[in-house]
Amino acid sequence: MTTEATRGHTFDGIEEFDNRLPNWWLWTFYLACIFSVFYWIHYHTLGTGNLPIKEYAIEQAVAAARDEAAAANNPITEESLRELAKNPAIVEEGKKIFQDPTRCASCHKPDGSGFIGPNLTDNMWVYGGKAMDIYTTILKGRPGGMQAHELFGQQFVMRATAYVLSIKNTNLPGKAPEANDKKEQ
Ligand code: HEC
Repeated sequence: MTTEATRGHTFDGIEEFDNRLPNWWLWTFYLACIFSVFYWIHYHTLGTGNLPIKEYAIEQAVAAARDEAAAANNPITEESLRELAKNPAIVEEGKKIFQDPTRCASCHKPDGSGFIGPNLTDNMWVYGGKAMDIYTTILKGRPGGMQAHELFGQQFVMRATAYVLSIKNTNLPGKAPEANDKKEQ
């Protein structure tokens, strides 16, 4: 298959033979081209395949469902709530709840920096900043205008708690501490 013919160009005295590419090489090339067409249609045109980001989101959702099911089957504790707050998918669900303009955001601002209700990003708390304190505040409400959210169910309250724990101590500038706030880490 080797020929002595060259491509006719010379660089620094180096010439290039005009050999045919070996068949095995050509076939890997042709097959890769054919494969790419099916790949493109499957993942990008029809969307029947999950790209890595979607795949990741599905795995996260499965992990979130497992964590929430485990939490729902056991008494809610400081540790179980902190555990939920470590799961990004649950925090993300909590963020959706919090930032819904008809819910928490209407009184605490979408970023939690406080409006009618206190700033939740500082380290000052009227009713305590521990996971269980926050959970109880959201579940049962507080007399100064914080509504109870028992009606929305345990999952709603757990998710909202996970989100508040995630923004706690991020110290966004916002509403000044309440008169009866106590410092807490
Ligand atoms: C109607 C307005 C309103 C809505 C809606 C609301 N809050 Fe509040 N929230 C308040 C007020 C007012 C306080 C302060 C209550 C007090 O001092 O007795 C408060 C207090 C809190 C506290 C305790 C803060 C502390 O310093 O101890 C947390 C946590 C909290 N809210 C979270 C939430 C979450 C999460 C939601 C949504 C699920 C929510 N709030 C919805 C008005 C609201």
